[in-house]
Amino acid sequence: MKIKFDNLLMLAPLAGYTDLPFRNVVKYFGADITVSEMISSHALVYSNAKTLKMVEKSPNETPYAVQISGSKPEIIKKATEILNDINGIDIIDFNCGCPAPKVANHGNGSGLLKDLPKLVEMLTIIKQTTKTPYTSVKVRLGFDKKIPLEIANALKDAPIDYVVVHGRTKSDGYKKDRIDYDSIALIKSILKVPVIANGEITDYKIAKYVLNTTGANGLMIGRAAISSPWIFWQIKNQTEAIPSIIKKDLVLKHFDSMVDFYGARGVIMFRKNLHAYAKGHHGASDFRDIVNSLIDIKETRNRIEDFFETHLLVDRPLPQLVTLNARSV
Ligand SMILES: Cc1cc2nc3c(=O)[nH]c(=O)nc-3n(C[C@H](O)[C@H](O)[C@H](O)COP(=O)(O)O)c2cc1C
Repeated sequence: MKIKFDNLLMLAPLAGYTDLPFRNVVKYFGADITVSEMISSHALVYSNAKTLKMVEKSPNETPYAVQISGSKPEIIKKATEILNDINGIDIIDFNCGCPAPKVANHGNGSGLLKDLPKLVEMLTIIKQTTKTPYTSVKVRLGFDKKIPLEIANALKDAPIDYVVVHGRTKSDGYKKDRIDYDSIALIKSILKVPVIANGEITDYKIAKYVLNTTGANGLMIGRAAISSPWIFWQIKNQTEAIPSIIKKDLVLKHFDSMVDFYGARGVIMFRKNLHAYAKGHHGASDFRDIVNSLIDIKETRNRIEDFFETHLLVDRPLPQLVTLNARSV
């Protein structure tokens, strides 16, 4: 399997969202690479069934990346060895961007941006241990100040195959106005390996702008995909139109795969997705209240059918979906 880094579109890892059922949905709309939720190397090593379930991939997910976090050399090595025994993982991605205090305050995630030699040491351990063809890293622009130059210079000779850059520092959190594509461009100008740009890409026009501004080899999309998983299709087809699917069918398909994957617990886990899918529709607020009390599979299915029945996405035929993964295999 060889990845072609040619305007590649990736789904961002989103803890709590990018599980197997959701990744399946975005694959349908043309995402080239999907990434698991962040998985703590510690949890993998002292693994419980829940952690291993988070690694599972859907048959249509190639290439598939598993993202790990951590900063203890022996744990990172053991976690990588565990992943070696699981079939179908093509990429190990190393998280160096997570701002959550329980992660960053322990020197993991974005905490590693304060210790770049250590960050490179972890990447070296992963690369030396892994059997996956690709190793990648996802960084922000710094911890409390922007250090794109230092990051690029540290990663220049690191054993990695590509780099994802979220154009904000850890301290910027998710503030919209802090997004900085020029710093991503700076990193891209220094690195020889492909760079994927991430942050605030919400439609195909912004996607085009970010590709042009940064010179990146691809884009990673996170939050916009939660309510609009078809964004990958829109970017590939350079359109604001929505693909010819019926929203009700999509939501039901996603819901059914949640129940398949998680059992009855999937009903409660799907509440957040229903909130996102209903956003902007008339009656969304009342629907949210109803959704928050649902626990029964059949009743939830009926509620979805009733609510989304009237919310057709399109009423005219649109171009065919692009061939999935054409660029990435
Ligand atoms: C709810 C949520 C969960 C996230 N979980 C992860 C994660 O597990 N690993 C990671 O590298 N980034 C994580 N991120 C950051 C995203 O991958 C992405 O970098 C960020 O949302 C910016 O991209 P966007 O503007 O397209 O959403 C998360 C972000 C959000 C909002």
